[in-house]
Amino acid sequence: MSGVFVTFEGGDGSGKTTQIQLLKKWLEDHGHTVVVTREPGGTDLGNELREIILHRKGFIAPRAEALLYAADRAHHIHTLVKPALERGEVVVQDRYLDSSLAYQGAGRVLDPNEVREVSLWATENLMPVLTVLLDVPADVAKKRQNALERAYDRLEAEAEDFHQRVRTSYQALADAEPERFLVIDGTLAIEAIHDQIIQKVSHLLS
Ligand code: TYD
Repeated sequence: MSGVFVTFEGGDGSGKTTQIQLLKKWLEDHGHTVVVTREPGGTDLGNELREIILHRKGFIAPRAEALLYAADRAHHIHTLVKPALERGEVVVQDRYLDSSLAYQGAGRVLDPNEVREVSLWATENLMPVLTVLLDVPADVAKKRQNALERAYDRLEAEAEDFHQRVRTSYQALADAEPERFLVIDGTLAIEAIHDQIIQKVSHLLS
């Protein structure tokens, strides 16, 4: 495959969307054809699965949840991402299998190695050449998401603990694969983050 597959990872509120849009514009300005996509979602079936995974009321068993993400991923990679890479395009994707490892792993119920195996089976082992991790402390991300400051209730405090575990998992993933990951302090200015990303991406494309 002649294309370039780049993924973005980070906690909720880490600024991925902003950086993905800036990178898209930069790539297009430099003559590349870019596909921006996301998981869960990115295809019609994916958007139906996304509704179920993120908005369905009620309990979803952890293994079922992991398989729903994997089903979304399998369809998305097969129908959208691989064809674009085969055409030689740049695919910039919001979340990929590292999200499953960090989030489903942080739930403490599933073994991250098993989650990884399921995901790799789903995608026939497709891995990104670069993964940008926007690292933001859980409390900063929380404040960004809440326009209004207010006292945390018990559930929100638990959620913050969960997001802390997600962050720790991401850091461990990045430490294990330093050549794939570019870890950036997500509390830096938007332009400073963008500069670090394009420095790495331009190197990859040259
Ligand atoms: P989304 O609204 O796309 O969040 P964000 O804008 O922060 O990317 O929701 C995606 C949510 O799904 C996010 O909370 C992380 C979670 N997720 C998983 O738990 N596992 C996965 O494999 C993926 C792709 C996402």
